[in-house]
Amino acid sequence: MGLSDQIEKIKKEINEHAISSKEEMEQFRIAFLGSKNKIKDLFSSMKSLSAEAKKAVGKDLNDLKQIANNKFHSSKSSLDKSPRKNDKKEDLSAPATSNIGSRHPISIVRNEIEDIFARIGFNISKGPEIEDDWHNFSALNFPEDHPARDMQDTFFISNDYALRTHTSSVQIRVMENTAPPIRTISPGRVFRNEAISARAHCIFHQVEGLYIDKGVSFADLKQVLYYFAKEMFGENVSVRFRPSYFPFTEPSAEMDVSCNICGGKGCNICKYTGFVEILGCGMVDPNVLENCNIDNDIYSGYAFGMGVERMTMLKYGINDLRLFFENDIRFLKQF
Ligand code: PHE
Repeated sequence: MGLSDQIEKIKKEINEHAISSKEEMEQFRIAFLGSKNKIKDLFSSMKSLSAEAKKAVGKDLNDLKQIANNKFHSSKSSLDKSPRKNDKKEDLSAPATSNIGSRHPISIVRNEIEDIFARIGFNISKGPEIEDDWHNFSALNFPEDHPARDMQDTFFISNDYALRTHTSSVQIRVMENTAPPIRTISPGRVFRNEAISARAHCIFHQVEGLYIDKGVSFADLKQVLYYFAKEMFGENVSVRFRPSYFPFTEPSAEMDVSCNICGGKGCNICKYTGFVEILGCGMVDPNVLENCNIDNDIYSGYAFGMGVERMTMLKYGINDLRLFFENDIRFLKQF
């Protein structure tokens, strides 16, 4: 076989040599690039050639070397990238080994609030997050020009629909559809058009409560809220009521509890007063009962509403509301 036929033969061998594993790559290297490789043999048989022929064959042999080299390096880099043949395949159905989910602190505290009220006979009611004017405002005795009806405070979807600003809307739905006695709490997401900061967010969670029966008084309201504060924050919590105003309750109050963070000594969470506000409450305004076709000569009731984020911050000593919405795994893992 002439030299050029041998070159052709080796070229064919190089092209046909499969390299699909490290072993095959090593065989290829030994055959075509190793210290005793086939191309080298051909170089030695060039000795007998004329100077001119040497030049031509030398070029062909150098090209051949280059082809072998290129094939070796491109196979090597694609083998390095792809998973090795003998490696165990990932088992995609295996359960995850890290970052097992945990309950969100807001859900933990909401469940706790629901349990506390369930123990004294409150059921749970739910309603839509997109609410009409009647259920969110008008039935609750909001005057036409109340600031909450302003775009600046409420996310309006149209003239008639908005994202609910509180779950008092659910209580209207319950009163419209249920004959007293009514004893219910309405947990849910609410929306207000607020600038986001450590203390305010445009989305938050509430639990609102409603009790309607014959002869319900403010003393009943205070009693149930004392019970709630003790269950939630422990026997030693102190509670105080301050007069307040809501369109749908009369009289109205806000309830503070002694600051859980500093134990009442004063800190930045309680603004050095020793107390933090946790809820609004009051006796359901007779107009509201009437709007829901409940006879206010026979029935009276109380209502209260609290923010779950505020409660969670107090319970766990969290000082930035935004943490609840960022879903940073390092934060969530702590609960
Ligand atoms: N709806 C009020 C709020 O969102 C809370 C509240 C509920 C106050 C019931 C009094 C009675 O702030």
